[in-house]
Amino acid sequence: MRRTQHWFEPARFGLFVHWGPWARAGWEASWPLVGGVVTLPMGQDIPAETYHANADGWQPDPAAPEAWIAAAAAAGMRYAVLTTRHHDGYALWPSRHGDHGVAKTAPGTDVVGAFVAACRRHGLKIGFYYSLPDWHHPAYPAFTDAMRPYVFGGYPVPSAESWAAYQAYLRGQITELLTDYGPIDMIWFDGAWERGAEMWDVDGLERMIRQLQPDILINDRLPGHGDFATPEQFVPPEPPAEPWETCLTMNMSWGFNAKDDHYKSPAALVHTLCEVAGRGGNLLLNIGPDGEGRIPPPQAARMAEFGRWMSRHGEAIIGTGAGLKSWQFPGPTTLKGTTLYCHLLMQPVAPVSVRGVPVQHLKRVSVLGHEASLLFETRIPVLDELMHVDGPGEVVIDVPMALRDPAATVLVLEFDCDPARSDPAAPSTETMA
Ligand code: GLC
Repeated sequence: MRRTQHWFEPARFGLFVHWGPWARAGWEASWPLVGGVVTLPMGQDIPAETYHANADGWQPDPAAPEAWIAAAAAAGMRYAVLTTRHHDGYALWPSRHGDHGVAKTAPGTDVVGAFVAACRRHGLKIGFYYSLPDWHHPAYPAFTDAMRPYVFGGYPVPSAESWAAYQAYLRGQITELLTDYGPIDMIWFDGAWERGAEMWDVDGLERMIRQLQPDILINDRLPGHGDFATPEQFVPPEPPAEPWETCLTMNMSWGFNAKDDHYKSPAALVHTLCEVAGRGGNLLLNIGPDGEGRIPPPQAARMAEFGRWMSRHGEAIIGTGAGLKSWQFPGPTTLKGTTLYCHLLMQPVAPVSVRGVPVQHLKRVSVLGHEASLLFETRIPVLDELMHVDGPGEVVIDVPMALRDPAATVLVLEFDCDPARSDPAAPSTETMA
């Protein structure tokens, strides 16, 4: 069994939380410090000194994670990933390594501890985002205004001595995170692009991590390693061969930005979850709480819409596998045993067809969340019918208006064999005789 099969693949839906001192100013996470990045057009450009000064005196509310995780559980999410330390180096737990984080600006506060406790209370799996680069640490070395513009691929090379010090710091922090909070389910690295796999000593890091937490999952941003791929802001048209998770913002920012109102609609986000599950992947959907830890109202509204939709349709997402090929139904499909879920992301103007399925084994069709069985018709090639071939055919279903969901309607097709079975069975000897 693959490591990801235990909980990650069945989970399908998780919460990403980007939170740090940047939130109190309404700035994007870390990137303003280096002058911004084209992929985050709503981000700012803030001089280094001003950027770091914003962290002074920030008192993150340790009650905030409880509200995020309660909202995640209500939305049908099964795990959560928190930015324990982003590229700007600010640690959300009282680290004994380095001098930048809650230990200094808010003594006695442990956001990571509160997050872990909330996840355990609500039964969500626990993930730690951790940036390999630290743009504040002198041995990294810290990013200064003189290094602008930030160029991908062109980084200051630290002396061997500095790099050894940075490695010790990095390992010290990761060890704390993976020792002080009990079993942790996932570590989500980021930023490896700034140094080669060799400099990060990815093999050594992985060994250390698996020793501390034998069951942990590691994302693929530890180059050459990792249990799952992480397409960002993008649903792959063809699913990657390995397990995968798309991380996605609701607007155009990871961090809190009241001015960013470029939101995807609630229905579009539900559709993305259906598309991702239909390709056998996970969706890690982001919130960027404000400086006080509150979920911004447009994001809370989208979480609530997921709650509404998932309470009725969760069984078509959680614990399912990828469904049929794209020509077989005009929308994503998911599979659980012999049950096929067909996700209708558009309002059909005529009866819909499911093609290439073993129609003679179809026992019942219904709309998820409604008791009634629907009438359906089946068609198979004429010759197959005459010869009693138990081959694939098509199902035609008229979806009653009254049973349609405003975001996405799910048809449930119950078979008595694998609906994705590809080899048409030979004519049975019984019927031949
Ligand atoms: C990017 C960004 C970072 C963000 C991450 C989430 O790599 O550098 O700001 O946290 O994506 O996937």
